[in-house]
Amino acid sequence: MVRRRPYGGETASEGRARGVDAAAAGDVLTDVLIPADRIRSRLGELAAQIAEDYAGRDLLLVGVLKGAMMVMADLSRALPFSVEIDWMAISSYGSGTRSSGVVRILKDLDADVSGRDVLVVEDIIDTGLTLSWLVANLESRGPSSVRVCALLRKPDAAALDVDVSYVGFDIPDAFVVGYGLDHAQRYRNLDCVGTLDPRFAGA
Ligand code: IMP
Ligand code: MG
Repeated sequence: MVRRRPYGGETASEGRARGVDAAAAGDVLTDVLIPADRIRSRLGELAAQIAEDYAGRDLLLVGVLKGAMMVMADLSRALPFSVEIDWMAISSYGSGTRSSGVVRILKDLDADVSGRDVLVVEDIIDTGLTLSWLVANLESRGPSSVRVCALLRKPDAAALDVDVSYVGFDIPDAFVVGYGLDHAQRYRNLDCVGTLDPRFAGA
């Protein structure tokens, strides 16, 4: 089978051969879609853009637990100025791996966002239903601005009316794990993003 690896990724066995992610990734991924060094360099580019756009402003980063944990940690550390960081935990009811857009807040922000410049930091946008709900929810609180940064974006999200200002990578419509993204709460600690071997993707 011919695999497209447009992000400089590699097959899991190639990764294993190089000793990359071998213990963590080699056994559960069919492909390393985006290796750790590509994620790091892309987040550096996004951080430079964000630093330019928000120069002289007081930025509040809002992360969505738990998936955004890695993006938040690395993106925020790549910024050249101090920011405030806050978290929301939301659960979107859905069947299996698809979300429904019906969202419940499990943990709300500690910060008051009124009058603030808010940048939502997300791991991945798939249907975009979760994000649409979140942006509308934040906008109802009277912030000065709300923008979105997502590491990954799937094709369906392109049809969204919610504007995503900063996108790391546009990826194919496959289920991916690693770098914060889970399947059944596992694999978040992989340092790369990869496609899960179907043998591990069962319910
Ligand atoms: P959406 O509402 O369909 O955009 O779903 C967004 C949320 O679904 C993300 O924040 C993830 O938590 C989860 N999700 C979507 N696609 C994937 C995937 O490929 N792997 C892991 N989680 C995913
Ligand atoms: Mg998420």
